[in-house]
Amino acid sequence: MNVTKTASAKIILLGEHSVVYGQPAIAVPVTALRASAKFVSGSTGTGLRIVAPDVEGLDLYIASLETADVSNPFVAAIRLFLSHFQIALPDATVELRSQIPIASGLGSGAALTTALLRALADVVRVSIDPSVLNNMVYEIEKLFHGTPSGIDNTVIVYERPVYFVRSQPIEQLVIGKPFRLVIGDTGVSASTKVAVSDVRKLYDSDQTEFSGLFDEIGSLVIAGRGAIEHGDEVRLGSIMDQNHELLQQLTVSSPELDNLVVTARRAGALGAKMSGGGRGGNMIALVAEPLAQSVMNALLESGAVRIYETVVGKD
Ligand code: MEV
Repeated sequence: MNVTKTASAKIILLGEHSVVYGQPAIAVPVTALRASAKFVSGSTGTGLRIVAPDVEGLDLYIASLETADVSNPFVAAIRLFLSHFQIALPDATVELRSQIPIASGLGSGAALTTALLRALADVVRVSIDPSVLNNMVYEIEKLFHGTPSGIDNTVIVYERPVYFVRSQPIEQLVIGKPFRLVIGDTGVSASTKVAVSDVRKLYDSDQTEFSGLFDEIGSLVIAGRGAIEHGDEVRLGSIMDQNHELLQQLTVSSPELDNLVVTARRAGALGAKMSGGGRGGNMIALVAEPLAQSVMNALLESGAVRIYETVVGKD
């Protein structure tokens, strides 16, 4: 039996980092960029082989759940899933593939885990509720990525725009008018875990100052939600610009990100900011359709190694 399942990338529109401290954030799926998991059953004889050519050529074999090396996130995810449902290890090979660059703020890890568990559920014939899947992917994120807020797994598992507040029920984002984002990759890989832990050190060094900064970002996110609901792109663009400045103050931007953000604005974007953990990875720009191509060209000329485009709320 062959089973293939996929999961999308994500991008944070507003509110990264402060979301870890209970402030709201907005994230959207990037549905054109996907990770996939393909199971071929009965292929190894006695266990589960995982191959992931796009993840540092990973190739490992699980002979038994008891002895499995759970220092690998995919192995940990498989064990968590099978123990939860009390199911034996299937005899199969799973191939993980991803179009989502790793360590770039696009949620490649959560997307791979989501695709893997969706496919595993099919192979062992279990119907998995999205909220259970979301909890499992979050557990893996926690094991391997420090103190995540849960926004990445949530937007990826539900594959829809979300207004997210940590530990609260997910709120669907109402999109008054579809809007277009251009995503520019600095090509610098950066660890979200390190950026999140550096922000934690800053916060511990001056809780009053940084709580104030997180509150400011939270207010921008609430205003951004209103702008999205009312289809007010000009206001949303200005809010993105302001959010970028506050992220600079949190020390999570970088010269490469700042350069692409300024480039996008000069080329006519309505607003631009870094996105995700920062220090590298991706930035996003809000663009009106007629200017999308010139913003993308400008980003490539200014050093972006990859660009993507996504329209939020078109379906
Ligand atoms: C990472 O995509 C977003 C951060 O806010 C971390 C998190 O929410 O877990 C930087």
